Amino acid sequence: MRAGIKGTGMYVPPKVISNDDLVAMGIETTDEWIRTKTGMQLRHIAEDDVCTSDLAAKAGEAALKDAGVKPEDVDMLILATSSPDVILSSTAAITQAKLGCSNSGAFDVNSVCSGFVYAFDIGSRMVLDPHMDNVLVIGAELYSKILNWEDRTTCIYFGDGAGATLLQKTDEGGVLGSYLKADGTGASVIEIPAGGTRQRLTKELIGSGQEYFHMDGRAVWNFATVKYGEAITEVTKRAGFKVDDVDWVIPHQSNSTMIKVCMENLGLPYEKAYLNLEKYANCAGASIPIAIHEAAKDGSLKKGDIVATVGYGGGLSWGSNLIEW
Ligand SMILES: CC(C)(COP(=O)(O)OP(=O)(O)OC[C@H]1O[C@@H](n2cnc3c(N)ncnc32)[C@H](O)[C@@H]1OP(=O)(O)O)[C@@H](O)C(=O)NCCC(=O)NCCS
Repeated sequence: MRAGIKGTGMYVPPKVISNDDLVAMGIETTDEWIRTKTGMQLRHIAEDDVCTSDLAAKAGEAALKDAGVKPEDVDMLILATSSPDVILSSTAAITQAKLGCSNSGAFDVNSVCSGFVYAFDIGSRMVLDPHMDNVLVIGAELYSKILNWEDRTTCIYFGDGAGATLLQKTDEGGVLGSYLKADGTGASVIEIPAGGTRQRLTKELIGSGQEYFHMDGRAVWNFATVKYGEAITEVTKRAGFKVDDVDWVIPHQSNSTMIKVCMENLGLPYEKAYLNLEKYANCAGASIPIAIHEAAKDGSLKKGDIVATVGYGGGLSWGSNLIEW
């Protein structure tokens, strides 16, 4: 018996911002720079009165509908997010209430851009428990409210959105294993410096930029181009497969230029990486479940395909799930 994906769903807010719109907003960038360096063209941005749990609930609702499961039959709701509604309580619990999953447990997983890979692994183990039939794993992020819109080295990369998978036990295909790692010595490569317990957000710090998302892009590049390959090599090895057996890689949608280098390093054709970042940009912990949903629904994923997710980002953290579709 394995954990299998019974349903998928996604939600992105309706407002779309193009690279040229960013220029029109006064950001010192160009459509050409963003396309060449990242492959991104569009991103969806939430309105001011929307929060992460709104996106999560809509994606979760779509996955439940796809699976034919009622909200009250969900046993556990796991939410990967690094942009919670509030520091506490958990955004998973707020989402649970919005969805009406009245009989479920609920908790957040924060592993930033690899959050979904971690949450999916936890969910795929939990659903094998005899007392659990339905585990809903959601990735939801609303980075537009945590970005510094005056910092062109971060604000152009991200979009808002949510994706979800509904897991059940299956005796056909399913999750073959996961590989999860972290290296906290690199924690400052991606962080929001102020607003937590290390540095409370004082009146003096508001407006300093310390309350917003920071990223050392070159350091991320150097880290991710190594860990992408490591994660896929190790997850396949653990499950008794070879890298060549992988039919689809569903990567964190960070940067197509970087993903191309990673696929070359692995010896896999670039075409085996499923990409949708030109439409949604980097949705952090939501990017992989959004891509899983689109790959499932546009017919890319065929029964029996070997699919490897790969996530990497803040923590630093990285990992992969191997799935037989
Ligand atoms: C950010 C990244 C594209 C930088 O590539 P690079 O070729 O090393 O570029 P540099 O940082 O040296 O910047 C090149 C120039 O572009 C400029 N630049 C940076 N952001 C820019 C933007 N949005 N628009 C236009 N120019 C920009 C820089 O200021 C620099 O100008 P300079 O040469 O006059 O100093 C690359 O490091 C990257 O994509 N990293 C990964 C980020 C990522 O995936 N994050 C997701 C985390 S999960």
